[in-house]
This record gives sequence, C-alpha cells and structure tokens, in this order.
Amino acid sequence: MNISVIGAGYVGLTTTACLAHIGHHLFCAESDAEKLDKLQAGVMPLFEPHLESVIRGVRKAGLLTFGSTEEAIDRSDAIFICVGTPPLTNGDADLSDIEGVARAIAKRASGYRLVIEKSTVPVQTGARLRRHLSVHGTSRLKYDVASNPEFLREGSSVKDFLHPDRIVVGVDSTRAESLLGQIYEPIVKQRFTCPIHSECPRRKNPVFLATDTNSAELIKHASNSFLAMKISFINMVANLCEVVGADVTEVAKGMGLDPRIGSAFLNPGIGFGGFCFPKDVQAFIRIAEKSGCDFSLLREVEKINQGRIGWFIEKLRSEVWVLRGKKIAVWGLAFKPNTDDVRFAPSIEIVKALLAEGAEVRAYDPQAIDKAKAVLPNITYCDDAYQAAKGAEAVVLLTEWEEFRKVDWCRLARLVERPLIIDGRNALSAQVVAANGFHYIGIGRASAAPQLTQSLVASVCE
Ligand SMILES: NC(=O)c1ccc[n+]([C@@H]2O[C@H](COP(=O)([O-])OP(=O)(O)OC[C@H]3O[C@@H](n4cnc5c(N)ncnc54)[C@H](O)[C@@H]3O)[C@@H](O)[C@H]2O)c1
Repeated sequence: MNISVIGAGYVGLTTTACLAHIGHHLFCAESDAEKLDKLQAGVMPLFEPHLESVIRGVRKAGLLTFGSTEEAIDRSDAIFICVGTPPLTNGDADLSDIEGVARAIAKRASGYRLVIEKSTVPVQTGARLRRHLSVHGTSRLKYDVASNPEFLREGSSVKDFLHPDRIVVGVDSTRAESLLGQIYEPIVKQRFTCPIHSECPRRKNPVFLATDTNSAELIKHASNSFLAMKISFINMVANLCEVVGADVTEVAKGMGLDPRIGSAFLNPGIGFGGFCFPKDVQAFIRIAEKSGCDFSLLREVEKINQGRIGWFIEKLRSEVWVLRGKKIAVWGLAFKPNTDDVRFAPSIEIVKALLAEGAEVRAYDPQAIDKAKAVLPNITYCDDAYQAAKGAEAVVLLTEWEEFRKVDWCRLARLVERPLIIDGRNALSAQVVAANGFHYIGIGRASAAPQLTQSLVASVCE
C-alpha cells in the first residue's frame, strides 16, 4: 500500500521505517529543512537503535522516499500524522502542528484519504479533525479520520513497533478499519523478517483492538498517566524506605510478583521525563478539568515527580555540604538510556539546579551531548565517564546507560577528589561499588560505606 507519514521525529521515522520494512511503499515528509536534507542524504537526525539500518535497507529496496508535506498528501491514500504535540504553558497539548497538517490536507487533497492521528492528542481531536476537513476541504475530498496511538518507547522503538503488545485503532467506518487492518496485517500476524533478531524472543501476535476514536485517544493518555502514576508511587515508597530502613528494591520485587501489579515501572529514581509522560499527564489533567472531572490524583503524581529534583539535590548536598565551587560529575543526560533525547529529562533539571548552586558540572552521555548542548551551553562536556569524574567531589548517575555498570573502578578511584557515587537510578550494585572503595548512595535503599580507603584502593589498583 502507498502510505505517507508526516513528521520525521522519533515516532514518524520509526513508523516510516517499520511500515516500509513490512513491505509498504512509504513517503515521509518533514518540514524542518535541515532535518529533511539530512534524511535525503542518508544521515540520521536522531539516535535510535536499529533505525538507521532499517532505513538504509528500505531505501535501497526503493520502498522509501523523503520529501515535502505537499508531496506526502498527493502521494498516498493513507496519511499518518506524526508531528509533535508539546505542552502549552497551561498544560494543554499544543495542536498547532496537527491543525497545520489538517489544513494542508483539506486544501490540497482530492479523492479519498484516510487521515490517521498517531501523534498523542487529547480526546475528541479526531472529531475536530473531521470537522476541520469538512469545513476547509474541497468538495472533491472524501475522507475518514482514525486514531492510532503509538506505544513505542524511545531506545527500543523499532522492536516495540514490530513486536507490540497491542495495536489500537479508533475508527468510525468499516473502510478505515479494513485499511488499518491491511496496513498492520504483517505485524498482527508477525509475518516479516525481523531486522533486529535472527530469532525473535517475542513472536506473540499482538491484539488488534478496534474502538471508537474517542476511546482510542483516551487509551493512550490513560496508559501513560497510569505508568507515570506507578513511577511516582514507587518513588514515594522509596522515600519511606529510606526513613524506616527498608530496601525499595526488595519491596518493588515483592510487589511486582503479584501479576495484578507487575514489576514494570517500579524502579525508583529521579523521576519520569521525556517527550511523553510529563506532557501527557499535564494534558490529561487539563482534559479532565475541562470535562468537569476532578483528577487531582494526577496532580499529585505530577507534584511528586517535580519534587524529585530538589529531593535529589538535597541528597547530594547532605553529603557534599556546600555545592558552590565543587566539581560534580554527571553521568547521563538523556531522559533514559539508548536515546539521545533530552526533552523534559530530569537530568537537565538537576544540572540546572547544580549550576544555580554554583557547582561546576562535568557531564558525559554516550549519545545525548549534542542535544544537551542546546539547552545546557555552559557546562563542561566530557568524552567519557572517567574524564567527567576527574577531580569530582561526587559522581551522580542520572541515566542508567549500560556502560556505567562496567566502569573500571580502580581507574575511577584514581581520578576523583572523593570516592562518592550517588546513583539516581539504582543502576549500580551497592556492594560492588563499596567493595571498590567508593561510598555508594542509592534511592530508597541503604547506602554502602567504602570497604577500602582511597589510599588502599590506589595500592590495590597498582
Ligand atoms: N517520542 C516518543 O517516545 C513517543 C511515543 C509515543 C507517542 N509519541 C507522540 O508522537 C508525537 C511525535 O513525537 P516525536 O517524539 O516523534 O516528536 P518529534 O518532535 O521528534 O517529531 C515531530 C516532527 O514533526 C515535524 N513536523 C512538524 N510539523 C510538520 C509538518 N507540517 N510537516 C512535516 N513535518 C512536520 C517536526 O519538524 C519534527 O521533526 C507526539 O505527539 C508524541 O507525544 C511520542
């Protein structure tokens, strides 16, 4: 099938690459000229595991073209809208890019178009899109509007797209449902050559859930808000654990063994971030407010999350005392591992708080430095975790990249001013860190004192 995708960000590029990989002909539009030039030249504008190789493969097979929004509207009957929906200052989702695309389709298209909102949007946006197309569209335009919320996670987007748990479509006609069924058939039946695994660990057929458009839109916001709630919940449990002397890792393990609860999203830390949870929780609160429903539960989720930054700084301050003039090594800037995305990352807020206190920040992230430079121009960026730790009073781990678990502790011990690790993600083993002469402080669990003095570490490491 000929399919267009509008918006070549994390969601749009993954959708494009994966739909082309399963055999469709894709046209992907991007309005940012620099990004489009890069894509047309075969250069990735973002980091996402496996995405580059899938895109290279489908372009070689002649299944993918990049170009303008106008061409995307002309080329295909099915158009996925994957543009951003960032938060406005009042918490509402900014739908101006969605409206811009709808206007372009209305003005330009003739014949049938299935307009699919994949961007995360407030409930009733589909209805608005329909109204917009009917008011502004030419008499030659025939259309259906469908919702197809996306559940992929940055860092594993290709895997998540090709091996999802469920595909949700919100439709109001059998034609729209049938077209979406055809588009996703290879994924629903798991019939494609997997570009990631030679033997896929998960070849379970996903559920294809067709609902009305309003319900599909709500499924996305409700799912993200629920997951955010789980994170804030375990963060409060972690705080309690610290006070009463319990271990949140054990508590989370015990809770997660109950299938009604599940173990996912029970990892305490510095809070949730990224381009989904913070803005989706805000937008969901606003939708509820405007609908006259009191969803103050989610306000609390948000408040707990916002409080994680000051709480973490306090943890650091209680160890280091005065932060002014102290070198602090920051390990990780991306909002999660395996992505270069720093949008709404708690690490960025923590670095800003450190700078406000007069600390000297030396930061390292395996992928996110370029994007971080745009929002944090005045810190020292380092080439690796060791360079960042040079002369540091404390190393703070803010993103749980795998490479931080594999550091050479002896080498590190020789570089730091004080062997102190504050692990904002509970990513490290307290025992291993302490055995290597570092003072370990995690989240919601006992800290571990160094088992060797620094001079002993130096002699052991010789
Ligand atoms: N990032 C995620 O993990 C994720 C997961 C699920 C859903 N979502 C949702 O998907 C949507 C997109 O998220 P993203 O992270 O891919 O955003 P993004 O900012 O990375 O990408 C959006 C892209 O759309 C482009 N664009 C805007 N208007 C355009 C137009 N008129 N024509 C062509 N291109 C246009 C922008 O230049 C940008 O490159 C959001 O609503 C988000 O909430 C994101």
